[in-house]
Amino acid sequence: MNSLRRILIIDDDADFLVGMRMQLRGLYGVLTATSVAEGMKLIQEQDVDLVLLDVGLEGEDGLEGIGRIHDVHPSVGVAMLSGRRDVKTVVEAIRVGAVDYLTKPVSNDELAEVVEKAVAARTIQEKCEALLRTQTNGNGSTTNIVQNSLKMRQLMAEAEHIKGHRANVLIIGETGVGKELMARHVNENSEDGKKRPFIAVNCAAIPDHLLESELFGHEAGAYTGANRRRIGKFELADGGDIFLDEISTMKLDLQVKLLRVLQEREFCRLGSNTPIKGDFRVISASNQPLDALVESGAFRADLYHRLRVIQLFVPPLRERLEDIPLLVDHFLEKFSHGVTTKRMTDQAMARLMEYTWPGNVRELANVVQSLVIMSQGDIIDTTAFPPWVLNGCKQAPDMRALNLDHPPVPQARDDVTTLRDYVAQAERRYIERVLTIHDGDKSKTARALDMGRTTLYMKLKELGLMR
Ligand SMILES: Nc1ncnc2c1ncn2[C@@H]1O[C@H](COP(=O)(O)OP(=O)(O)OP(=O)(O)O)[C@@H](O)[C@H]1O
Ligand SMILES: [Mg+2]
Repeated sequence: MNSLRRILIIDDDADFLVGMRMQLRGLYGVLTATSVAEGMKLIQEQDVDLVLLDVGLEGEDGLEGIGRIHDVHPSVGVAMLSGRRDVKTVVEAIRVGAVDYLTKPVSNDELAEVVEKAVAARTIQEKCEALLRTQTNGNGSTTNIVQNSLKMRQLMAEAEHIKGHRANVLIIGETGVGKELMARHVNENSEDGKKRPFIAVNCAAIPDHLLESELFGHEAGAYTGANRRRIGKFELADGGDIFLDEISTMKLDLQVKLLRVLQEREFCRLGSNTPIKGDFRVISASNQPLDALVESGAFRADLYHRLRVIQLFVPPLRERLEDIPLLVDHFLEKFSHGVTTKRMTDQAMARLMEYTWPGNVRELANVVQSLVIMSQGDIIDTTAFPPWVLNGCKQAPDMRALNLDHPPVPQARDDVTTLRDYVAQAERRYIERVLTIHDGDKSKTARALDMGRTTLYMKLKELGLMR
């Protein structure tokens, strides 16, 4: 093992401190203090890996103590320590920057985990700060990725590493986690501080037969309907980045063409044989793991390897709950146009942290926006919460499986149906899916859909879903 990690325990219970010294002897260097002020002096004198801070310090507010310590020593991890687990305090502690919350008695295994977590977080933070200091130009990235969780800090550090490199980047993550935001961050985070083009193409939103000309451009008369010359996105991205969103939806024949362009670094507009050289980096994104598609033959392995020279994985929101309070504050401010006095009750925040967020940060943003609109006073409690957030902690509808594109919108005149039919189809799919999620339980489904049971029965009958 490396040299002993050093822990500072701040607690006004002298017996507890003696007990901990004995328990941790030989495992850690243990420092103890009975007040935050005394503890801060020790941190000043010695390098501390983790502070364990009692919530109920005599005459002090333990939570406030975190702020005081971080004001002077921003990278030291502080974990709260308490006799009992109180959700309100846990949420508040994490909101003000605690790395964890431990209840007494603390086991050695538990402590070891927290210490390592604090050390890892500290390393990353220090690395980021060092990299930030070496930035030649102060106006680095303007994209505001709100985060503080260990997983996101690790991701930000990885993104920092690729600064100055022009290798292709593949960003993977569930829907709504912030892949596009990350792509913009990678684009803006250049070594010389210069702004480079960022040209986004959503491969899923453009009909297959138009995507090729969208990417590479066309000459007038290249195909029926191509009346004028058109510059493609690759040409526009020269000197910068082309962002190929939802790359997994690209058809195999176009994948072959894209591969050739990546290999040769040149392309031709449709209807022309004159090659155009391009200096571009490809940042692509997918909410499906591409390796699975490679295995099933839907995605070319050679293209996959070219695209993911560097791979960034944006974790789902449910795996980084610590980010939720920060994101909530960010969206409260954003949707109140920066003049908010609104805030969540602790209970409301705790509920948001229990929900599984299948639509990730986008879903959270939507929920906060609706709460800003629906809540009357400055205090937002759970009464205005959408029913699926309130009820569905574990059974929230899976937004990806719901596939919001379904039923498909018409692409041609022949596909057009009446609005009534379209809405009925969408309703049918949605109700069917929510019913499946609730294992066919109609009461739960009715509750999740915020409708009466009788109304649901009638709907099921009407839509032919009654079995
Ligand atoms: N860490 C974050 N901080 C602030 N805003 C965020 C963060 N992550 C995501 N958002 C916001 O959430 C929304 C969804 O993010 P984004 O479009 O980047 O997700 P995505 O992963 O590309 O989603 P999809 O897979 O559906 O395309 C955007 O409005 C974005 O600004
Ligand atoms: Mg996206």
